[in-house]
Amino acid sequence: MFKNTRLRSISAQQQTIRTLYNNHWQNGGGATSKNPTVLITGGLGQLGIECSKLLRSQYGAEKVILTDIRQPSQSILKSGPFQYANILDPRRLEKIVIDNKVDWIVHLSATLSAKGELDIPLATKVNIEGMQNIIELAKHYKLRVFVPSTIGAFGPDSPKNPTPNLTIQRPRTIYGVSKVYAELLGEYYHHKFGLDFRSLRLPGVVSCDLPGGGTTDYAIDMFHNAITKGKYECYLKPKTTVPMIYIDDCLRAIYEFMDAPNDAIQRRVYNINAVSFSPEDLANEIRNYFPQFEVTYNPDAIRQEIADSWPEVLDDTEARQDWKWKPEYNFKTLVETMIDQVKVFHHTPERIASTA
Ligand code: SER
Repeated sequence: MFKNTRLRSISAQQQTIRTLYNNHWQNGGGATSKNPTVLITGGLGQLGIECSKLLRSQYGAEKVILTDIRQPSQSILKSGPFQYANILDPRRLEKIVIDNKVDWIVHLSATLSAKGELDIPLATKVNIEGMQNIIELAKHYKLRVFVPSTIGAFGPDSPKNPTPNLTIQRPRTIYGVSKVYAELLGEYYHHKFGLDFRSLRLPGVVSCDLPGGGTTDYAIDMFHNAITKGKYECYLKPKTTVPMIYIDDCLRAIYEFMDAPNDAIQRRVYNINAVSFSPEDLANEIRNYFPQFEVTYNPDAIRQEIADSWPEVLDDTEARQDWKWKPEYNFKTLVETMIDQVKVFHHTPERIASTA
């Protein structure tokens, strides 16, 4: 008896929520909204804070909700809405979506490649269970959803230079496996349920904020060490070349791709490419600014094997054709900009606190 009443009340509640959402779509909300409310997961990670700044500049500060399980700094709290939310707690995420009439989710939470190999159960939970929670939510409330994929979605059997958009994907990390799963799940939900799922395979992202747990992190570490210590011990071999992208290009790609009309998009998952370099190339370029900079090499077996299995150059012809993707930063301007930014970083205590 009690059970039935409870079931009726849950279904009445769901009906009310659906009606609210139906009104929201009829009034121009939902996946195709021109002025969307966006929820960002992993909001305090390498991409999250900067992504919120870009989206807030386009849609308004109140329209972009950062979420994370970490504590934000005061400046982040002041810059716009922040909510505590764990992607492994779907009810909490659902409440945020309903309360704020969210239209789009940018799902940035992930355990990266090197950290994932050290804790496979954690990476499985965060990257696979988290993805399942997000995609179910997006399906239920008809949200547009962006999930970054990665060069790590390829493996030693994929062609390396260039790596086509559609090719063999047999990654050898749990991070790569979970990202291939995310790509396939998103495509499947698109075909089966009409979900507006979008994903870009990102090169290693270079920014002055530290990512943590990635194989491409050396590039960021090298700048910080050049400026603070004048020397750096690199965990990859000097000639290990992988694709990289400066954060501003990466965020602009996400924004332009999310903003692209559905009929411009021929695929749900695109490669994007910007620059490719090795630790030796980067050290040489940094020496144009710090001639005394010393780099030694002490390859770490796990990260070297990961990087050796990844592409050298991604073929992004289709992204360039379909939604006009084009990077602005080349290798020289990336290095020049990073040096300026990292100098500022080390003189701005608030910035350091926000990434702790
Ligand atoms: N930057 C990521 C990593 O190194 C690759 O997408 O794990």
